[in-house]
Amino acid sequence: MSRERTFVMVKPDAFQRGLVGEIVSRIEERGLKLVGMKLLTPSREQGEEHYAEHEDEPFYDDLVGFITSGPAVPMVVEGENAISLVRDMIGATDPAEAEPGTVRGDLALDIGRNCVHAADAPDTAEREISIYFDADEIETYERNDEGWVY
Ligand code: TYD
Ligand code: MG
Repeated sequence: MSRERTFVMVKPDAFQRGLVGEIVSRIEERGLKLVGMKLLTPSREQGEEHYAEHEDEPFYDDLVGFITSGPAVPMVVEGENAISLVRDMIGATDPAEAEPGTVRGDLALDIGRNCVHAADAPDTAEREISIYFDADEIETYERNDEGWVY
């Protein structure tokens, strides 16, 4: 086990559908620690940078158009094995294949409107955090459940 930081974002579709609270609740209730959070419409530059790994894919332009289309909620989340844990919680990329109980398996239908993003590895987590957050926008604080209550 290792304590990790991951990057998660409520995408514009989920924001428009009023699912911010639902998605944030799942993260909180699992016991993960929120250390960064914003409400913003990603800029073109942020959207292109966010999905740079997909720039040669046919869906890239639509994806950047979608992610920059309106308010979203980027977050920095901490916890033991947070990166793979949150990936498991959000489910498969295509909601049609996502297990019930996952965010996408419970809340989404369309691969292009799959409600939430989460980083998939330590290097992408750090890279994605830096697209949306300055270092001084990430909180460091003690939580009284750390160490013994879960
Ligand atoms: P990807 O990084 O493969 O998925 P994930 O979000 O699970 O990390 O793709 C990024 C986003 O691109 C994905 O959330 C939805 C969109 N996308 C499509 O629209 N069509 C596709 O065929 C794929 C693979 C992704
Ligand atoms: Mg991805």
